[in-house]
Amino acid sequence: MIYPITRMRRLRQNETMRRMVRETRLSADDLIYPLFVCPGDNVKNPVNSMPGQFQLSIDNLVKECSEAESFGIPAVLLFGIPEKKDPVGSEGIKEDGIVQNAVKAIKENCKDLLVITDVCMCEYTSHGHCGEIVDGDVHNDKSLGHLGAMALSHVKAGADMVAPSDMMDGRIGYIREVLDAEGFENTPIMAYSAKFASAYYGPFREAAESAPQFGDRKSYQMDPANINEALREADLDMDEGADIVMVKPALPYLDVITKVKEDTGIPVAAYNVSGEYSMIKAAGANGWIDEDKVMMETLLSIKRAGADLILTYFAKDAVKLL
Ligand code: PBG
Ligand code: ZN
Repeated sequence: MIYPITRMRRLRQNETMRRMVRETRLSADDLIYPLFVCPGDNVKNPVNSMPGQFQLSIDNLVKECSEAESFGIPAVLLFGIPEKKDPVGSEGIKEDGIVQNAVKAIKENCKDLLVITDVCMCEYTSHGHCGEIVDGDVHNDKSLGHLGAMALSHVKAGADMVAPSDMMDGRIGYIREVLDAEGFENTPIMAYSAKFASAYYGPFREAAESAPQFGDRKSYQMDPANINEALREADLDMDEGADIVMVKPALPYLDVITKVKEDTGIPVAAYNVSGEYSMIKAAGANGWIDEDKVMMETLLSIKRAGADLILTYFAKDAVKLL
C-alpha cells in the first residue's frame, strides 16, 4: 500500500514549500494589453460593459502606454475607432488613420514598448463585418486586398507586429507577401488562428463599435464545437508564415490552447476576451467573488493550459499583484 508512504500534503505545508514546487508562474512578460483608440483630444470614454476600460484619444492613449511600459508590460494591442465608416472600411488603410497616427505617437514616446495592431475591417465598415460584402456574405479573396493594405499601413507607421483577426482563408500568406515585398520581412505576424464565433465578444463590440449590422460571423469565425478544425487552422497559418498563433476566447477553450501548443510547438497566444473580463468585473463589483483572486487564477489557468502569451484587459491590474 502506498499510503501513508506517499503523502501529497507534505509539499503543501506552507507558502515557502508551495512556492518551491509551483509548476506555473505568471509574469509581466506574458501579458499583452489591448487598448481602444478614438479621435479627439483628451477623450476618455468609459466602456460601460467593461469597467476600467476606455476609448482613448491619442494623447490619453500615450499616457496609458507609458504607464503600461513602466509596469513592465511588453506590448499593447491597438484597436481603432475611426471618424467615419463605409462599406469597404476606407478609413482603415489611410496613412493618417486613427491607428496609424496612434502607432506613430506611441513609438515616439515609449521606446521599448512593442505596438501590435489588430488588422481587421470590422471597426471600419458600415456593416460591421470583417471583410467586403458581396451578395450578402463576406467575400474572402476581395477582403484579402484590404487586409494586406491595412497591415502594410500599420507597419509603415511603425507597428512592431500585426495581428490579423478577420479569419479569412489565406490571409497570413497574403499579408506576409505584401509585407515582404515592401521590405518588412522582419515584422512578425500574430495570427488569430482559432478564433471562435463566440458570444463572449459582446462587450468588445460596444467598445470598438463593431457589431455586425446584419447576420453574424459564423461564415468566417469557427464553430465553438470544433477542435480538429482549430488544429488545421493553426497548421495552415504556420505554413503561411505565422510567427505566433492565437486561440480566442481563452477560458472556454483551454483544451484548444493545450492542443495547439502541443501540435505547433511555436509561441501560442490566448485572448482573455471582453466577456471573460466583464463577467469577473461584474461578479467582483457585486461582492460575489474576490475579483483579484479570480483574475489571477484565471490568467494562471490560461498559462497552465499552454499559452505563452495572454492578451488581457487585466494586464495592468495583474502586474500590480505579481
Ligand atoms: C473582430 C474582433 C473581435 C475581437 C477582437 N477583434 C470579435 C468580434 O467582433 O468578432 C474580440 C475581442 C474581445 O472580445 O475582447 N475582428
Ligand atoms: Zn473583425
